Amino acid sequence: MLTDLIRETYLHNQQEEALHHVEAVAEIAVALANAYDMDAEKVKTAALLHDISAIRTPQEMYSTARKRGLRIDPAEEKYHALLHQRISKIIAQEDFGITDVQILNAIECHTTLKTNACVFDKIIFIADKISRNPQDVPQYEDLLQSGSEQKLNEACYLFIKHQFDNGLLVFAHQWLTDAYEELRKK
Ligand SMILES: [Fe+2]
Ligand SMILES: [Fe+2]
Repeated sequence: MLTDLIRETYLHNQQEEALHHVEAVAEIAVALANAYDMDAEKVKTAALLHDISAIRTPQEMYSTARKRGLRIDPAEEKYHALLHQRISKIIAQEDFGITDVQILNAIECHTTLKTNACVFDKIIFIADKISRNPQDVPQYEDLLQSGSEQKLNEACYLFIKHQFDNGLLVFAHQWLTDAYEELRKK
């Protein structure tokens, strides 16, 4: 079963902590998926695989990105670990046979979000943030109750704003800056 294979992969690579994290994200993301009438199974798969690149070192991620000819953001050039969202997508696709575009896209932008992100992308993005910094995303209960896209946009916006306002970003990725700008106008 896919879930077992994913679990074994984290464990086999001594990534227990990452496994605990993605399982916590999956739980939050599935609750959100239900509130937002999304396919909970797909959301769960995206959540479990979003940090699968933990099985690679930042240097390996960087050389994969170079080999594949990915356009590397200056932030990724300086902090190779910022590539992990894009490398997770590649691993999901190539090692786990994921072909579903929604799953792959959500994995790819889970750290930075991006412009024109869909509800699926935002659920994975915000679930990841809620699991790590619940105090920075105080609207979680609201999201669960409302299932409103406007609230989801607001939660994403406020989280990114919190990062910018508190100097929490060592080097802002262009996708994040663009997503922030787009959400600010909504
Ligand atoms: Fe991540
Ligand atoms: Fe994560």
